[in-house]
Amino acid sequence: MKTVIVTGAAGFIGMHTCLKLIKNYKVIGIDNLSSYYDVKLKKKRLQILKQHKNFYFKKLDICNNKKLEVIFKKNNPYFVINLAAVAGVRHSLINPGPYIQTNLVGFANIIHLSKLYKVKHFVYASSSSVYGGNTKKIAEEKDVVDKPVSLYAATKKSNELIAFNYSKLFSLPTTGLRFFTVYGPWGRPDMALFMFVDSIIKGKKIEVFNRGKMSRDFTYIDDIVEGVVNVLKKPTISKNKKTPYSIFNIGSGKSVKLMDFIKEIEKNLKILSKKKLMPMQLGDVKRSLSSVNKLYKWVGYSPKFNIKIGIRNFVDWYLKYYKIKL
Ligand SMILES: NC(=O)c1ccc[n+]([C@@H]2O[C@H](COP(=O)([O-])OP(=O)(O)OC[C@H]3O[C@@H](n4cnc5c(N)ncnc54)[C@H](O)[C@@H]3O)[C@@H](O)[C@H]2O)c1
Repeated sequence: MKTVIVTGAAGFIGMHTCLKLIKNYKVIGIDNLSSYYDVKLKKKRLQILKQHKNFYFKKLDICNNKKLEVIFKKNNPYFVINLAAVAGVRHSLINPGPYIQTNLVGFANIIHLSKLYKVKHFVYASSSSVYGGNTKKIAEEKDVVDKPVSLYAATKKSNELIAFNYSKLFSLPTTGLRFFTVYGPWGRPDMALFMFVDSIIKGKKIEVFNRGKMSRDFTYIDDIVEGVVNVLKKPTISKNKKTPYSIFNIGSGKSVKLMDFIKEIEKNLKILSKKKLMPMQLGDVKRSLSSVNKLYKWVGYSPKFNIKIGIRNFVDWYLKYYKIKL
């Protein structure tokens, strides 16, 4: 059985990715259980993963290169997926240190070890936020993305540049995945869906930025995982001097207005929200919309979930997890 190292395994996307991978691979999950948000939620995700015999967990900071190398040496991974990061655009403006550490130093450690241990495919999380300053309606991978509007976006763009360098110089097959606003069960407490549901249930006001005049390409977690795992199995091969490097968007390919997103949550909870209309936030973007044609051509990616099903699944999970009866 081939071994895959997944960093950020206790995270939202990490947990779901590992759950899919453990059916066919031995999975070594790495996570430092950072306190960026509720650690209990991360531990609960791990509890579920640890029930499976193909899953092994190491609590470790990816900035600790020495201990990281021990894991690579012992397990000789076939594939590596780097999802560990300090995520969140807004926080990167006030507390840059951890972003630089994990997203740059940690990333450099992981990619360098992947090269040293001759990993067959290094897949890593980039982000739709790299499109930040772009004014084009639909984001395509070929767009120039050298105007990040947040430090977080700048670290993700840097990851893509470092990956290109490793692919070019050392023929390490690398693929960067630009995720577009991911949501679903076990989602992140610092993201809109979780915060909105939580506040609406508690009768608190929800903060609606740019007075609601925003839209997002919301991507359901199962579509994301499908994309990640299919891409993992299909690295770009280095032949005829081609650099084995790729970048793909993973989105839903659809744009949803923030106010419609809120209405769908209200419908599910059968509660009207109280809104606090706020100005645009520094570092944020007004809209996001992915082109998923490139990924469709590469692995037949075709997202299946819309917000009706996705929000319902999230709300069902949330009520069960927090034992709430409406
Ligand atoms: N969720 C989204 O909408 C979204 C969108 C674009 C990109 N991404 C990217 O996808 C990846 C996964 O995101 P997520 O939503 O699951 O976030 P998450 O915060 O739930 O998961 C990240 C995990 O990484 C771990 N981590 C952080 N620093 C670490 C370190 N130094 N060493 C080891 N582990 C560390 C955290 O404890 C966490 O469990 C991230 O790279 C993120 O930037 C997410």
